Amino acid sequence: MRLKELFSRQPVIPAPMAGVTDFPFRQILRELGIKFVFTEMVSSKGLVYGNQKTEELLDFNSEDGFWTGVQIFGEDPEIMGQAAVYIEETYAPQLIDINMGCPVNKVVKNGAGAALMKDADRAEKIVEEVVKKINLPVTVKIRAGWNKGQYTAREISRRAEQAGAGAVTIHGRARSQFYEGQADWDIIQATAREVNIPLVGNGDIFTPQTAREKFRTAGCRALMVARGLQGNPWLVSRANQLIKTGSIPKKPDIKEIIDMACHHLDRAVNYYGPHRAVPKMRKHLHWYIKGLPYATIIKDQINQLKEVNQIKTVLKKYKTALIKYQQGCKEELDPKKII
Ligand SMILES: Cc1cc2nc3c(=O)[nH]c(=O)nc-3n(C[C@H](O)[C@H](O)[C@H](O)COP(=O)(O)O)c2cc1C
Repeated sequence: MRLKELFSRQPVIPAPMAGVTDFPFRQILRELGIKFVFTEMVSSKGLVYGNQKTEELLDFNSEDGFWTGVQIFGEDPEIMGQAAVYIEETYAPQLIDINMGCPVNKVVKNGAGAALMKDADRAEKIVEEVVKKINLPVTVKIRAGWNKGQYTAREISRRAEQAGAGAVTIHGRARSQFYEGQADWDIIQATAREVNIPLVGNGDIFTPQTAREKFRTAGCRALMVARGLQGNPWLVSRANQLIKTGSIPKKPDIKEIIDMACHHLDRAVNYYGPHRAVPKMRKHLHWYIKGLPYATIIKDQINQLKEVNQIKTVLKKYKTALIKYQQGCKEELDPKKII
C-alpha cells in the first residue's frame, strides 16, 4: 500500500484510540466498509521486552484485504527502531505511525508522546531511526505543541519530513490542553502549506459535514476522527461518502443504534469472553445511547448488570420503548417499564 493510495481511497481515517479501537471495534469498522484502521498505541519498550499485554494489542489480520496501521510510542530512538522492525517482520501492517501526541503523565514523564513536541532533536532522531530500519511507510502523529500558543508543530513536521516520514497528522491542540477547548485548525493549515508530505488534520470532527468543510478549507490530504467515533462507528464511512460522492449519507436511526450496541457487545464477548467484555463494553454502551431519552437511567442500570443477556434485555426493551415513543406513545418510555 502507498500512502497516496490510502488517502485517495479513504480521506477520512479512524484515529488510534487506546482503550477504544480494539479488535472488536475494528471489526465493526471493517463491517461498515472501512478499509484502513489503526490499532491502539503500543509501547515500543513493551514489545522489545516481550510484554504479553502489549503484544495482545497487535492482534490483527493483514491478509484479509484490509489495511492496518500500528502506532508505537517511546522516547528511545534505538528501541523505537527495534520495535518497528519486530512489528514489520511479525505482523506486516501497512504502515507504522509514531505517537508524539499522547498527553498522559505516565507517557510524557519519560519523554515520550507529546513530550517530543518540546524536544525536536529527539523527535527527528526517532523518525530517522525508524525510517532507516524498516521498509514500510512511517507516519507521525503530533499535537500543535506542548503549551497552548507556543506551537512547535511546524518545526516538528518539517523535521519529520526531512527524516523521511511519509505523512504527518496534527491534532490541533497543545498538550497543556489535553482535550479542552477547541482544536486550532489555523496551525494545521499553516503547516500543510509548509511541508511537502501529506498533512492529515485532526480535531473536533463530529459530523460528516464538518469533515467535508475541513477537507475543503484546511489544505489537508486527509482527516482523522477520534471521539466522534465513540458510539458512532458510522461516522467514518458517512464522512468518506460525503467527501467522495457529495451525497449526504443517511443517519442511523434508533433501531440501528441499539442494534449496533448489541452487536458490538456480541463482538466483544466473542473476542474477550463475557467476564472481560462486560466491563470493557460499559463505556461503549453509554456512548451509543448518550443523548437519547432517559439514557442516564439506562446507563446506571447497565452499569449494575454483570450478565450479557441481562444487558441485552435492557437494551432491547429500551429500543422497543424508544420506537414506540417516537410513534407517539410517551408512557412507553417510563424507565420502570424498561428496567
Ligand atoms: C480515549 C482516547 C484514546 C486515545 N488514544 C490515542 C492513541 O492511542 N494514539 C493517539 O495518537 N491518539 C490517541 N488519542 C487522541 C486521538 O487520536 C485524537 O488525536 C484526539 O482525540 C483529537 O481528535 P478528536 O477531536 O476527533 O477526538 C486518544 C483520544 C481519546 C479520546
